[in-house]
Amino acid sequence: MMMDAMKNLYIDTGRLVAELHELAAFSSCPEPTPAVTRVVYSDEDRAARQWFDGLFRDAGLSVRVDPIGNTFARWCPDGCDADAPAVGSGSHIDAIPHAGMYDGTVGVLGALEAVRALQRAGHRAKRPIDVVLFTSEEPTRFGLGCTGSRAMAGQLPADRLALLTDDAGDSLDAVRRRAGYDGDLAGVRLSDDAYAAFVELHIEQGPKLEEEGLDLGRVFAIAAPSTINFVVTGQGGHAGAVLMPDRHDALCAAAEMIHAIEQLCRSSPSPDCVATVGTMDIHPHAVNSIPSRVAFSLDLRDIDGVNRDGVCEAIVGENQRIAARRHVQVEHSVLNADPPADCDGPIVEALAEAADAGGYTHRGMVSRAYHDSLFMASRFPTAMLFIPCRGGVSHRPDEFAEPRHLEAGVATLARTLATLSGS
Ligand code: GLV
Ligand code: MN
Ligand code: MN
Repeated sequence: MMMDAMKNLYIDTGRLVAELHELAAFSSCPEPTPAVTRVVYSDEDRAARQWFDGLFRDAGLSVRVDPIGNTFARWCPDGCDADAPAVGSGSHIDAIPHAGMYDGTVGVLGALEAVRALQRAGHRAKRPIDVVLFTSEEPTRFGLGCTGSRAMAGQLPADRLALLTDDAGDSLDAVRRRAGYDGDLAGVRLSDDAYAAFVELHIEQGPKLEEEGLDLGRVFAIAAPSTINFVVTGQGGHAGAVLMPDRHDALCAAAEMIHAIEQLCRSSPSPDCVATVGTMDIHPHAVNSIPSRVAFSLDLRDIDGVNRDGVCEAIVGENQRIAARRHVQVEHSVLNADPPADCDGPIVEALAEAADAGGYTHRGMVSRAYHDSLFMASRFPTAMLFIPCRGGVSHRPDEFAEPRHLEAGVATLARTLATLSGS
């Protein structure tokens, strides 16, 4: 049942859109907005967090920042039990190189606007509502996605967290300290009673909602991602002097491996299996030198974690066969192989009721992208709410969500937070 106060719900969509644009300006991308690059702990990320601190305080929220910068902005109005497990909502603000301005940001600014709307509507929260800003959802800097939520969920031990390294060879521990965050990394793990419920608002990053002309997606499952790093070692040499039959070119071997990865993924029985090789380092990286060492990453995902693991095994075996035939070596290391997550049935139901109350159309769907909710779901009842994005485009500067869909998402989130915090 929706609370009566929700009749007065008003979403300030104009302000939300303006804030999304303001946030997009914290960017190191050489191209102008809407292209955005915001790498965790960079100057832009730190400045954006400072801007958020002001927004949170202006909304009367009390702010807690953990030892790696995960930020919890809490609303606990009169009559709210400050010791009760909270209701959380949030997402990330880091953006991959040359990204758009809606991925993650909608979930943080949207949650803030939802709380402001509840305040305006006079909602009497019985348990605290937290707006959560997760640190480093994107794997850009430290190779591992969802670093903050992983550690919050207790799935990334403090010693491993501290030793994650960036391309400059700096450890996460050193980088977070330089960025102004300290304290015991073991303290990032949340207690079992931290959250009664968690809901993340996000753009769909796929085309379904737009294709079907729907306002909202209720996410009931989140796909299983894994990251595997490969290093191929061959033999370098002079680009003119070494004849083709004598070569053990690490890049040519890697190229064949990448082609095999595409084939194995395409022929997998699961249509949801996707593989992406998105980074590659070539040594010595000279025009007239045969590559002697190549490192590349593989991002492999599926709704079906068992199928994903089977495809991974097949890829590793095939890469070894290619290496043996070409007389090069290949090594691999699995950075993460996370299981898929099911969302919480009652929260998904609350999302449906909230969407109906606002007169919005919606459907159930899976999330093919990963999100901080994947890890929140391992500890707390969790669900996600998607809004359409133009053409299903994401991780590109032309990512776009219409204001009317932002409004639908925030209004539905606000009504859901009201339900979850009202009893
Ligand atoms: C998140 O950004 C993902 O890659 O799914
Ligand atoms: Mn992303
Ligand atoms: Mn995201």
